Amino acid sequence: MSLHADYSPMMETDSKPQVFVTSESKRFSPGSVRCRFLVIFVAALGIIALTLIILQFVVHKNTNTKTTKLPDVACTGDCTITLVESIPENVAFPKGSIHNPSIYSGWKNLLKMATKEIDIASFYWTLRGDDTNTSDPSTKQGEDVFQSLEAAAERGVKIRIVQSPPSKTFPSLDTIELQKKKLAEVRLLDMTRLVGSGIIHTKMWLVDGQHFYVGSANQDWRALTQVQELGLMTYNCSCLAEDMSKIFEVYWDLALPKSKIPDPWPDKYKTSINADSPAQIKINGSNAAGIYLASAPKQLCPPDRADDLSTILRIIDSAKQFVYVSVMDYFPTTLYTENRTYWPVIDDALRRAAFDRKVKVRLLASLWNHTRPDMKYYLQSLAALNGANDASVQVKFYKVPPFSKEIPYTRVNHNKFMVTDSVAYVGTSNWSADYFTGTAGIGYVINETETGNTVRAQLQAVFERNWDSNFTISVNCNQ
Ligand SMILES: *[C@@H]1O[C@H](CO)[C@@H](O)[C@H](O)[C@H]1NC(C)=O
Ligand SMILES: *[C@@H]1O[C@H](CO)[C@@H](O)[C@H](O)[C@H]1NC(C)=O
Ligand SMILES: *[C@@H]1O[C@H](CO)[C@@H](O)[C@H](O)[C@H]1NC(C)=O
Ligand SMILES: *[C@@H]1O[C@H](CO)[C@@H](O)[C@H](O)[C@H]1NC(C)=O
Ligand SMILES: *[C@@H]1O[C@H](CO)[C@@H](O)[C@H](O)[C@H]1NC(C)=O
Ligand SMILES: *[C@@H]1O[C@H](CO)[C@@H](O)[C@H](O)[C@H]1NC(C)=O
Ligand SMILES: *[C@@H]1O[C@H](CO)[C@@H](O)[C@H](O)[C@H]1NC(C)=O
Ligand SMILES: *[C@@H]1O[C@H](CO)[C@@H](O)[C@H](O)[C@H]1NC(C)=O
Repeated sequence: MSLHADYSPMMETDSKPQVFVTSESKRFSPGSVRCRFLVIFVAALGIIALTLIILQFVVHKNTNTKTTKLPDVACTGDCTITLVESIPENVAFPKGSIHNPSIYSGWKNLLKMATKEIDIASFYWTLRGDDTNTSDPSTKQGEDVFQSLEAAAERGVKIRIVQSPPSKTFPSLDTIELQKKKLAEVRLLDMTRLVGSGIIHTKMWLVDGQHFYVGSANQDWRALTQVQELGLMTYNCSCLAEDMSKIFEVYWDLALPKSKIPDPWPDKYKTSINADSPAQIKINGSNAAGIYLASAPKQLCPPDRADDLSTILRIIDSAKQFVYVSVMDYFPTTLYTENRTYWPVIDDALRRAAFDRKVKVRLLASLWNHTRPDMKYYLQSLAALNGANDASVQVKFYKVPPFSKEIPYTRVNHNKFMVTDSVAYVGTSNWSADYFTGTAGIGYVINETETGNTVRAQLQAVFERNWDSNFTISVNCNQ
């Protein structure tokens, strides 16, 4: 029995949309004196109640200007947040450069800590060398993660995985095996059925309602040793983890074959944590930060959930000194529509920042054997603004140096992050229209009020290390 036997993307939905039925209000006919007394009594009660409510409102207003939509329980607390990276084998940065713990070590920490449950939202799975017919020592870390997942399941940890439906290119043999061995429950999120196109491109782990990972690394052994990746580990953070679980539950429930995007959204998916009311977190017991999680595409966002695109725009629009962007692919267009269309939504925001507000813009895109040849034109076009009206716009390619091993689909900078003078943003999406209109992804925003050794400062150091490295090629408009 294969994991996907019972799955048909063509399956028609027959589940009824949720409807709130309000019972028709009963007409009141004043038939008796008893009844009239009752009316007066109820009316009096009503007036008293109303007075109390108004009084409370007035008192409340005096002490707190925010009277509407207070979160049920404020999201506050101490959390440990660690920037993690995969640096490809045989890539070295100069001594003294920032060096972060590996994504592998972060995942291993999660696997060690898990006692109850592990939820993973993923695109595809190739954690083992066999999955790609690779025999090389650098597959070891991925294989170790796979075995540790099995071991966790065997000691009773409940594992749930949501991923894109497998394809020829991405058969995801790992999760088929986990499912067969009854070590994980696996669901397939069919974005095409739900929103008309796209995939789930999220890379997220959530453990015991306490700890989570978000970043660029796929469930792929190559993402640990042969591809440059960046993510954030968040430990001991139940309140943000609960918010992350709401994003996971959206995927999980929508991955049922007959699911529909709810309208209206039931409360269990809703959040009150967003740009306007971020979680108030103390990072590592010292850095006060406003934090929130964004989700893409917008169709998967219940009310008040920040959507990833608006979040990116808001961060660019609020930058005062600089915006540094590191994304694998940058296209102010659609890529996967039948006819490509121009989509300068993010591009315009970057140009506005540079041109209108003199914010220093730097964009680092990735160059590898599979880079679409037309990306260069959009990068050149952006770079062409440099100097106009005193705008500062610099654009570079980052090319992971080659290595003697010939491993397909490796040696690339897969990072997707942005850092400004006030905010650190780590995402899972390339910057093209498709990633925001139909593809599932997550953005993680950290807005620290302090300076010093912040996550933001560390992310800036990563950007500058890559930018100043020997692995970049400047993009000029006359190349
Ligand atoms: C690995 O090799 C087997 C047998 O030659 C082949 O069937 C399979 O398609 C290969 N898988 C990949 C990912 O190349
Ligand atoms: C999480 O909290 C536990 C219990 O307080 C502590 O032992 C552990 O070191 C913490 N882990 C991290 C990564 O902060
Ligand atoms: C960061 O927080 C400050 C207030 O602490 C706020 O003014 C600013 O808009 C926030 N930035 C973003 C991008 O959310
Ligand atoms: C794509 O472009 C072709 C040629 O211009 C046109 O015939 C077709 O209808 C377009 N398709 C869509 C979906 O717009
Ligand atoms: C990329 O292409 C070059 C030139 O065709 C080739 O030498 C190199 O092996 C390729 N690298 C990878 C990782 O496929
Ligand atoms: C975007 O990112 C993914 C990996 O996260 C990569 O495999 C894909 O080819 C990228 N580019 C485009 C143009 O979609
Ligand atoms: C927080 O503490 C962890 C564990 O000691 C460390 O790895 C991480 O870099 C710290 N984060 C910041 C922002 O300093
Ligand atoms: C770049 O390469 C040159 C020559 O190999 C070396 O001297 C220099 O230190 C390198 N710079 C960085 C930032 O790695």
